[in-house]
Amino acid sequence: MDLMWNDADCVGVPELDLQHQRIFNVLVGLQAHPEARVDSEIIADALDQLTHFGDTHFRAEEALLRAAEYPRLDEQLAGHRHFRRVVAELCFATTAGADGVPLQLRSFLETWWMEHVRGADQRYAAYLRERSCT
Ligand SMILES: [Fe+2]
Repeated sequence: MDLMWNDADCVGVPELDLQHQRIFNVLVGLQAHPEARVDSEIIADALDQLTHFGDTHFRAEEALLRAAEYPRLDEQLAGHRHFRRVVAELCFATTAGADGVPLQLRSFLETWWMEHVRGADQRYAAYLRERSCT
């Protein structure tokens, strides 16, 4: 499943949209290299960026939603914890040289994009628009 960046993916907060776009580019890179092996630079680089993303992007998003008293914050936090846990597990599996990592990473990111960025994140974007916080 090759995904395309869509303007409807935007949440209306420039910093967060830029971070989402960066992560989308990681996914595009993975999709462009389905043959990438677990010990390849593209996998190491993708995991590196996702680890960084899990830190900076989630922190920024959570601070904004907390300030806006977003009623589904707990759900959002749980999604972020899940992301961080899966990325950490994939980093560990990469260190162990597990062959399945590239495919697992790509399919995790595709699902995350569809369910989290296009699902959960769009729900908070609608809430922020309603409250005119953006
Ligand atoms: Fe997000």
